[in-house]
Amino acid sequence: MAIEGTILVLGGTGRQGGAAARELLRRGHTVHALVRDPGKEAALELQEAGAVLVRGDLDDEASLDAAMHGVHGVFSVQTFRGPGGVEAEERQGRAVADAAVRAGVRHFVYSSVGGADRDTRVPHFESKNRVERYLRTLELPTTVLRPVMFHDILLDIAPRPVDGELVLAMWLDPGTPVQLIATGDIGVFAADAFENPGAWLGGVVEIAGDCLTGPQMAAAFEAAGGVPVRFQQLPIEPLRAARPDLANMFDWFERDGYRADLAELRRTRPNLVSLRSWLSDNWTAPVAAAR
Ligand SMILES: NC(=O)c1ccc[n+]([C@@H]2O[C@H](COP(=O)([O-])OP(=O)(O)OC[C@H]3O[C@@H](n4cnc5c(N)ncnc54)[C@H](OP(=O)(O)O)[C@@H]3O)[C@@H](O)[C@H]2O)c1
Repeated sequence: MAIEGTILVLGGTGRQGGAAARELLRRGHTVHALVRDPGKEAALELQEAGAVLVRGDLDDEASLDAAMHGVHGVFSVQTFRGPGGVEAEERQGRAVADAAVRAGVRHFVYSSVGGADRDTRVPHFESKNRVERYLRTLELPTTVLRPVMFHDILLDIAPRPVDGELVLAMWLDPGTPVQLIATGDIGVFAADAFENPGAWLGGVVEIAGDCLTGPQMAAAFEAAGGVPVRFQQLPIEPLRAARPDLANMFDWFERDGYRADLAELRRTRPNLVSLRSWLSDNWTAPVAAAR
């Protein structure tokens, strides 16, 4: 489907922005990517894929105005992992939206997080809720996507050998399901929104591609790696001492959690990438565990 102009993608050297840019390019659309360092390998790869690189910084208002001049749409994502934490994330999320209003952007797609508005007590969820609320005060045609936990996160805590077996250890009750998504599918939904504004403009949509308990995640690793993997629940208190924000997130998974309408999403997009399929392409079992 046609999009009436250029889409400016933020965070294009990262996971979500990279996925959105690549999916839009794959569908034949014109993509500008705002990058801090056009010489960075990820930026050059994006250029190779067909994106026009535009140098800028989310903390540099003039660069945002220049990058948004004349564009049709903006894919907006911010990280809380930079030096300014959630305060910088919120400030940048607001600044980007303000620049989009000044530029007369016709479709603004903001990537938030699943459950942003539901008493999560997770600082980097609450920052996104504040950006969402700010967006609602603006004259800016907006779609809010709320992605759930990325498949990628499972690589950070991938199964490790313990006493001769591979163990996937998480701070999760074995009976608690968690919704998951491949970042590539965030790109798919973002491109769908830009291509079909009639269905997406004004919408707030929680997006997921899979839903698994810890033991089911271990089974996905087992199937992808061809080696037995056991799930183990970790006690939450040590995590609470080290990373209270993450502990709050796992507490929230137990008492509420993500609520994407997976059946409906699968109806519109039957090929959403499961964790098992994603791991088959992205995870190799440690050699010591291979049979
Ligand atoms: N992990 C999950 O399970 C999950 C689930 C839902 C939502 N989220 C949210 O996803 C967000 C992060 O998205 P991601 O994983 O796609 O990010 P990412 O892979 O860490 O990439 C961050 C991107 O932001 C860019 N960036 C950072 N500071 C910038 C600045 N001042 N000006 C311009 N660009 C800047 C980086 O560019 P450079 O290349 O220049 O550094 C990079 O392209 C977080 O807010 C997180 O809460 C995560």
